[in-house]
Amino acid sequence: MNKIIVSIVFTIILVLGINKITDMIFYVEQPEKSAYQIDSVTTVASTTSSENSDPENIMALFASTSAAEGAKVFKKCAACHSINQGGANKIGPALWGVLGRKAGSVSDYKYSKALAAHGKVWSFQEMDGFLLKPKDWIKGTKMSFAGLKNAKERAAVILYMNENSGNPLPLN
Ligand code: HEC
Repeated sequence: MNKIIVSIVFTIILVLGINKITDMIFYVEQPEKSAYQIDSVTTVASTTSSENSDPENIMALFASTSAAEGAKVFKKCAACHSINQGGANKIGPALWGVLGRKAGSVSDYKYSKALAAHGKVWSFQEMDGFLLKPKDWIKGTKMSFAGLKNAKERAAVILYMNENSGNPLPLN
């Protein structure tokens, strides 16, 4: 009888002890992990903003990419836009020769009021800003496209659109 009680008490002590030890291990590990995560998030965020939101960068980025790369990026646009000469309007206006043209000037396309009133010419910088986040650049545009976060992709697709034109803008 005594032996049984002793072994039960011993088992209870053992289980409690293991629990304590486990708690201590987890307690030590958790702060280390979250500190590391915060660190990596901060790093990513700062790289992203320095690479992607400087409009001056667009000309420099042209050298690091090509119109051929841009043709691949344009697949994201092709559901709504034609790019070839004489191409028709789709959900969005035809984009042949869009660079250097005034925003909202395809005569047989019905633009949103916001884009029709924008009044700017599509320069490289203007296009870069628009493609980063269309709805921020032209508030009220009906182009439902989130934007291209990657600056190199924007540069590539801008080069590609510039080549699909009767009168490409000079690259320098
Ligand atoms: C879901 C459909 C859709 C997608 C995808 C889309 N667009 Fe558009 N786009 C539109 C619409 C609609 C408009 C007209 C917006 C307005 O009137 O406010 C437009 C307008 C534009 C304009 C202005 C043209 C002008 O004549 O002033 C440009 C430039 C443009 N889009 C480029 C792009 C590029 C480049 C991509 C791909 C990276 C893209 N769009 C993806 C629907 C789309």
